[in-house]
Order: sequence, then C-alpha cells, then structure tokens
Amino acid sequence: MYRSHTCGALRLSDENKQVTLAGWVQRLRKMGGMTFIDLRDRYGITQLVFNQEVNAALCEQANKLGREWVIQATGTVKARSNRNAHLDTGDIELIVESLNVLNPSDTPPFTIEDETDGGDDIRMKYRYLDLRRPIVRRNLELRHRMVMLVRQYLDKQQFIEVETPVLIGSTPEGARDFVVPSRMNPNEFYALPQSPQLFKQLLMVAGYDRYFQIAKCFRDEDLRADRQPEFTQIDCEMSFIEQNDVLELFEGMARYLFSEMKGVTFDQPFLRMPWSEAMKFYGSDKPDIRFDMRFVELKELTEAGLFTVFDNAPYIAGIAAKGCATYTRKQLDELTDFVKRPQVGATGMVYVRCEADGSYKSSVDKFYGQEQLKRWAEAMSAQPGDLLLILSGEAAKTRKALCELRLEMGNRLGLRDKNTFAPLWVVDFPMFEWDEETGRYFAMHHPFTSPKPEDIALLDSDPGQVRANAYDMVINGIELGGGSIRIFDSQLQAKAFEVMGFSKEQAERQFGFLMSAFKYGAPPHGGLAFGLDRFVSLFAGLDSIRDCIAFPKNNAGRDVMINAPSHIDQAQLDELYLELKQPAK
Ligand code: AMO
Repeated sequence: MYRSHTCGALRLSDENKQVTLAGWVQRLRKMGGMTFIDLRDRYGITQLVFNQEVNAALCEQANKLGREWVIQATGTVKARSNRNAHLDTGDIELIVESLNVLNPSDTPPFTIEDETDGGDDIRMKYRYLDLRRPIVRRNLELRHRMVMLVRQYLDKQQFIEVETPVLIGSTPEGARDFVVPSRMNPNEFYALPQSPQLFKQLLMVAGYDRYFQIAKCFRDEDLRADRQPEFTQIDCEMSFIEQNDVLELFEGMARYLFSEMKGVTFDQPFLRMPWSEAMKFYGSDKPDIRFDMRFVELKELTEAGLFTVFDNAPYIAGIAAKGCATYTRKQLDELTDFVKRPQVGATGMVYVRCEADGSYKSSVDKFYGQEQLKRWAEAMSAQPGDLLLILSGEAAKTRKALCELRLEMGNRLGLRDKNTFAPLWVVDFPMFEWDEETGRYFAMHHPFTSPKPEDIALLDSDPGQVRANAYDMVINGIELGGGSIRIFDSQLQAKAFEVMGFSKEQAERQFGFLMSAFKYGAPPHGGLAFGLDRFVSLFAGLDSIRDCIAFPKNNAGRDVMINAPSHIDQAQLDELYLELKQPAK
C-alpha cells in the first residue's frame, strides 16, 4: 500500500490517526530544529513535520530532500497550532515517523506553484511539470466535469455518442486541411477532419436520429488566443427538427452547464438577434452584449459640403462613451492611435465632448456648429459628460474598426466583467459570402446549410440576399458554437452548389457520397457544434484556450515539448513516395 490517504484528505476529525501519504515535495522550510515539508498530490497539500529533537536521523533525511522528489511518509495526524486557512488540510499536520524516497528529482526549471517564475516557453517545454501546478490542474478538472455534464445532458435527451473517422478525404469547409500521405495508396492523401460534419449528416440518413461526439477537429489556419490547430467540439446532429427545436435544446444545455458549473441562472430566454442587426449595431457577428454602447449611424446628420472626409465616406457611425467627456488630449490621442493600428484599420477618429454646460467640443468644430453637434449627440442619446467617438469610411471596414473601438472602451470602462455572462443567439446569417479574389460566392457557414424557405426564390435573382437557417451561440463576444438546418433535398443542394460555382462534376467529386446518400431517404435534419475549449475557457475565466488544453500548440502551431512537427527520415519519405521541396527564401 503506497498511501492510506491523499494529500487533500486529512481533517481535524482524523487527529491521532496513523496514516501514510505519498506525493511530491513542493517546499521545504527549516525553522530552528524543525523541518516542514509541503507534500503535494492532485488532491491537495499536507504539511509534514520533522523534529530534530525527537528524531535527529529522520530530520537529517528530510533535510536532504529536494523540490519535486517523490516521497512516502508515515506518521500521526496532529492539530496545528497555527492554522493555515488557505489549505483544506490547514487544520492538521503530519508528525512524520518514517520516510521513504520513491524517486529523487532534478531541480525543476521553474517553481511549481500557482505563482510561478517560469515564462510561457519554458512551461510549455516542460508541460508535464506545468500541469502539476494547481492553477492549471483546476482548468483540466473543470474541463473533465464539463464533459461529464455534457454527456449526461445529451444522454438524457436520447443522443448517442458515435465516433467518426479521423482519416478522411479533403473537403473544403473554410479552413485549410491537414493532410496525411497514404503509404498503401501512393500519391494519395487523407485529410484530417475540420469537423465531423458530413459523417454526422450520414448518421442522420442512417436513422440514428440524435448523435453527439466529443470530437477532435483539425484546421490549418492562423492561430489566435481562441484558436488551436487541433481543438475539440461538442458536435451534435438531430433529425425531424426545425431551427427552434435545436436552439431550445442547446440553450437548455448551456443553461444546465452554467447552473451546474457556475451556479449562474438566466431568467430570460437567450436573445435571438438577426445577423444584420448584430452587424448594424455592434459591427460584429459575435457581439459582446454585456454592455450597450451601440453604433449610431450619422451619415444623414452630417450635412454635405463641410468636411470632405465625411463627404467622401459612404458610412459614418459613432458610439457614446458614458462619462468620458473629461478624456484628456493624451487619452484621445491614444484612442486615435488605437483605431489606426493595422489590425483595427481606421484612418482616423473624430470625437465630440458633450460638456457639462451643454456645449460641445469637437475635433471637427471647424466644420460643424453647435446645433449640428447637438443633433449627433441627441441621435446617440448622449448626456452632458459623455464622449462621442466617430469613425467613417467604407462600411464593412469601418464597422469592424468601430467594433474594436467599442470593445476597447468597454475594457477601459470596466464593462466586460468576466463573471458577468451575456448570452445570445445570432440568427439569420447570410447564406453566401462574395469573394472578390475568386469572383464567386462561398457558403458562409458550409455548403449544406439550408436557405430560409421564404428566401429560396432569391437564389436565382439575388444570392447575396439569401438568409440561411444558420445560428451561432455567442457569449461575452465569444462564438461558442454554431450550426444550421441542412439541405436534405438533392435538387436544392444542386442549386446551392450551382450558386457557389461548383460544376456538377466538382460537386460529385467532393460530395458525391453525401449526394448519393440523400437519394435514399434523408430525413430533415440539422445540428450544431460547440467549441469545448472555448466553453471551458469562458467558465475558467481564461484569456487563452491553451490554458485548458493539456498539451497545446504554440502560436506557430508547434508542440515544443515533443518538438513537433519535425523532419522524418529519408526512408520514411521513400516509403510514402514523397520528395521534399525547399520553401523559397
Ligand atoms: P464551426 O466551424 O462554426 O462549425 O465550429 C464550431 C465551433 O468550434 C469552435 N472552433 C474552434 N475552437 C478552437 N480552435 C479553432 N481553430 C476553432 N474553430 C472553431 C468555435 C465554433 O463555434 N460543422 C460545423 C457545425 C455544424 O454546422 O453543426 C462547424 O464545425 O467555438
């Protein structure tokens, strides 16, 4: 028997018991003739005590231990005189009577405590040590609990978990595929799934009615704080449902998770906001509605012939920041610099200070009189003391920049509290997106998403206006999940492919198996997928999804611990009939 208890188990009620603990030496302190060791395992920390006067040899043995050594200690539980309120075991300590070193350790490259001295790179290189830190472990425990709850909820709702393959064929679903060469089929490649999309639809054709999977997905795209090249979806599909059924069932799941994991309940149904409204008022398809500060369009209130920048701009809009009229020149310059960053993309910013005395001071008061500025302020429901921030230019670009500015102001004003949750559904996405470069329409969600029945006629006349039965769940400005009702009629599917410029042959080559399955009685179906990593990060209040993934990749898509990706031997290349080409410098 290695241990009788874990390092998180002992309480005052265990006083005087003889116990054995095993774990890692987190810290060793010597005070007078006493030695104290914090012994850590997954469950917690227990203080071990050695007394020079009682057992000098044992104390000497303890003094030789180093950080992260694995030891076993047997002794008697005693009440502590100086209680440690930070530890669950803080009422007791173990007076050690015998000690056994199970494994010594090299000195770890950083301190393995919540407050560590290890930078990101070193912690990733030694991720197994980083994972010992309680702060990281708690994120993985939270993830585990969430997955258990998801399985419970979906199981109760008759969903069955089915695994789908990871070696599949390449299908365009937005991002680039990761591909795997096939030795047995020279010059042919598998692709790793960007999602189980086609398989889950085939499971509906197969009559499985309700499917889910905690599925690994792979996308070769540029990485950000909320994106990893391999990530996990809670992937779901249902038959004989309409959009509202899907939204209700998964809103139910989100509510269940919030209540079980965070003790948070929502008294109102989640808002359902059309995509067009999200873009108009927040400049984003994932609006953070923890705070208001909606866009107000001002083009009609900016009289022509006065200020050429506004005259030449097809779109002018602003936000009103409460109580910010006192912003100094320096603060306003900072905001101007902020909007001019390439990632934000504006060319400049106009401000109007709504002064306490009811007058207006503006960067454009050379061009616009008090009456005009007042009209803007009124349109924006601004009060004396507020600050109007206005951007202008091409509509899509300016909306994006104003969205960034709004979020920045939200941060500055403390309106984006991590413990406040503001969920909504964004619905009625456009079905297609026009791509200037290739001069064709792409599916905004994916090629199997169905149009709204009332918009089907527009497929011929004005595809850009067709709205899809597609939806995203957004919380605090994060797209947590998304899905759609699918096309299950092969004629409508053929029409959609046609709008997207697929020839019959191309459609057949890429999606032939799905088209053919649809000829054998496909039920009406739809579904969605949540990003598990993002959901866990939201609950854990993390800034990056990396922190809730056991072995994540860095921003260059590398695993620095195992050093992947890496070169392979010539023999392996030969076996795969592959020759390498060096990238151009
Ligand atoms: P979608 O592409 O919207 O839909 O993905 C669903 C959810 O997965 C998460 N997600 C990511 N998380 C981390 N890293 C990434 N690189 C990443 N990419 C996406 C997001 C997103 O909302 N097959 C469809 C779903 C369906 O229609 O049923 C799909 O994959 O939280």
